[in-house]
Amino acid sequence: MDTSPEIHVLALETSCDETAAAIVANGRRLLASTVASQMEIHTRYGGVFPEVASRQHILSIVPVVEQTLAQAGLSLADLQAIAVTRGPGLVGALTVGLNMAKGLALGSGLPLIGVNHLEGHIYSAWVYRPGESVPAEPRFPLVVLLVSGGHTELDLMTDHLTYQRLGSTLDDAAGEAFDKVARLLGLPYPGGPSVQRAAEGGDPNAFAFPRAWLEGTYNFSFSGLKTAVLYEVRRLQEKGQPLPVADLAASFQQAVVEVLFTKTMQAARQFGAAEILVAGGVSANRALRTAFKSQAEFPVHIPPLSLCTDNAAMAAAAGYYRFVRGQIDDWSIDALPTWPLSECLPPGQAADRPAP
Ligand code: KG4
Ligand code: ZN
Repeated sequence: MDTSPEIHVLALETSCDETAAAIVANGRRLLASTVASQMEIHTRYGGVFPEVASRQHILSIVPVVEQTLAQAGLSLADLQAIAVTRGPGLVGALTVGLNMAKGLALGSGLPLIGVNHLEGHIYSAWVYRPGESVPAEPRFPLVVLLVSGGHTELDLMTDHLTYQRLGSTLDDAAGEAFDKVARLLGLPYPGGPSVQRAAEGGDPNAFAFPRAWLEGTYNFSFSGLKTAVLYEVRRLQEKGQPLPVADLAASFQQAVVEVLFTKTMQAARQFGAAEILVAGGVSANRALRTAFKSQAEFPVHIPPLSLCTDNAAMAAAAGYYRFVRGQIDDWSIDALPTWPLSECLPPGQAADRPAP
């Protein structure tokens, strides 16, 4: 039996419109997680309003941290490290989390670890919640499909914290396409869950929307699909017909899922993946989850729904795997609004951008 003491990492995540804190033990067992969503506020604008997001983070961050510590029944003295999302994301929003994390690290003497938001999404697949049986750890080499509101890419992970980008979107991210199509169909923000709900009663074959296969690459493109939906909506409106929202939503969703699923499977075969990992906000999509769960060629890891969209447990898990490798940051770290996973290297080797 392993008797070594547990490592507790407290992480903060403020890259977009969720103010989140979490404590994870040994990179896997979730002890506490708080997500204060700003969704209601941003719904009024039909999307995230960056300055409003930053100010809301300032208001929420202290109560969110206090609540997380209370929920875990721990104090700062029981922790081993503070992790924080450094980027990619909205610079003003990231700054709030970074400043809070620096303050906590300074006050407690704990090490500070900056993590990449995309890396966090990936590591959400390592996390399990209290009361759950311990799920199998993802095994390398892993082909990772990362699908969020800002990013869509396929990566090969040959080891922890090691990413090779196989392809990415040339235009819209998958989540962005869901959000834009939701707007076209008059469905509320955030678009992903709205489109999924609308699609439930629809026929996925009602409209033959295009699939951008971009053969011979692992890149994606969703802007042509979004435009095809726009033209179809206009055509129907010009004819004065009521929009068959359920059929449009189901056909759009099917086109996205088919491309994401097919290209991930191709990459897994070509790169000899042991397993597949799907993460990011769009991994909450039921049709996408069903596609991966319905095949038996590769074991697939998809985080539980509560960990698919932004949260801090994922940052705590990623922070743990950096911490145990001695990858501690210093006070010089700042927000990186753009930060590709492939540049997510250990401190000292990191391609940190000079201050603007
Ligand atoms: O990872 P995430 O919470 O934030 C970013 O890092 O971007 O992803 C948010 C994205 C949004 O575009 C949202 O519409 C999408 O994930 N999303 C979904 C679903 N739930 C969230 N897309 C499709 N189906 C869903 N059920
Ligand atoms: Zn995210």
